[in-house]
Amino acid sequence: MFDDNFAGMTIMSDHEPTPFGLPSDTGGKDLGVFMPMANGGWILSLNKPPLDGSYAYNRQVAVLAEAAGLDFVMAMAKYRGYGGDTRHWESSLDSVVLMAALAEATSRVKVWTTVHTILQNPAVAAKMMATLDQISGGRAGLNVVTGAYKGEFSQMGAWPEGVDHDGRYDLAKEWITAIKRLWTEDSVTMDGKYFQLDDCRSLPKPEQRPFLVCAGSSKKGMCFTSQEMDAIFLTGGDATELGVASRAAKDDAAELGRVVRTYSMMTVVLDETDAAAQRTAEHFRAGLDEDALRGMMRAYGFLDAEIGKENAFVAKSRSTFMTPHVLGTPATVLAQIGDLLDESGVDGLMLIFPDYLKGIPIFGNEVLPALRERFPGKVKIAAHG
Ligand SMILES: Cc1cc2nc3c(=O)[nH]c(=O)nc-3n(C[C@H](O)[C@H](O)[C@H](O)COP(=O)(O)O)c2cc1C
Repeated sequence: MFDDNFAGMTIMSDHEPTPFGLPSDTGGKDLGVFMPMANGGWILSLNKPPLDGSYAYNRQVAVLAEAAGLDFVMAMAKYRGYGGDTRHWESSLDSVVLMAALAEATSRVKVWTTVHTILQNPAVAAKMMATLDQISGGRAGLNVVTGAYKGEFSQMGAWPEGVDHDGRYDLAKEWITAIKRLWTEDSVTMDGKYFQLDDCRSLPKPEQRPFLVCAGSSKKGMCFTSQEMDAIFLTGGDATELGVASRAAKDDAAELGRVVRTYSMMTVVLDETDAAAQRTAEHFRAGLDEDALRGMMRAYGFLDAEIGKENAFVAKSRSTFMTPHVLGTPATVLAQIGDLLDESGVDGLMLIFPDYLKGIPIFGNEVLPALRERFPGKVKIAAHG
């Protein structure tokens, strides 16, 4: 079903993706930024550059991302941090309000926000997204998350007791079905298990249907994504693992007559030499915030008896990077990211930088233009502007 690249062109599948004004519409790669809207970003180290997660910082990041020629900026939604000496993620902005403001601060880059299906009534979320569509002139996207970490929601009395992991995806399915109907129908009546709508009205309608993404990594989460979403964030490790996951997601969607784009995350540490970037990574590693790591493990559902023991998760986390990472000069980063995109076949990457204000301009000037050359799709996207 899926052919390889040839003559600089990607043949996607029998099904054409719905166009969203992204390079991947035509076989190119979507490159965006994971907004640092919670303090500490995605490095669990006392030795990382300070990152306060403030609006002022995020505004600069979004403006730089747009100027660099990146395709999207995305904010997660987070309600409880991991603690430790760095008080990791204890301060976080509201995802929707942030992206609405950043839509005004930018004019071209896509603005993708996150909403938890267990927190917002679908009629409220439908209207939030129609509003973001209008503010952004059709650049809105929605990361649909079910809520996985109990303590984050039980602290506000919002954990749905009796609804298990897969049940939360059933709830999400009803939620997104309701929203898609509210975006397109005059009146919606729906008697679901989780949501009931009675002649429910929702105007304005979005001009451009918001781009829908999900990062479910379980079988049920991936199944939900193939059925309902435009893109999936994969959490696999190397290019081979990512390639397997990407093909599986695309095949599942194709069986339903749909196209799903596949993305992954990447932390990028740029420096003048590879050795200097490696030294930076070692410096981060030496400053691991052990208590924040324990807090993260607790949030992820590790049992108390396991926390503090050495296991594969801890070994991996000792790098302090919460995602896969590339370290080195722009040329090294370009080669590694290019090969990863090539070998895995994913449609894009969401980038993280230890210091976004330093990293984004270097990436935009010294890495992105060559990536655009290497993965042009059928339409050439300008690297700047
Ligand atoms: C790129 C990415 C973004 C995510 N954003 C959020 C988020 O904003 N809020 C949240 O509670 N979970 C977030 N998650 C967690 C996922 O939504 C999902 O619950 C997790 O990957 C586990 O998959 P599962 O739900 O299929 O078990 C994110 C995960 C990834 C990889």
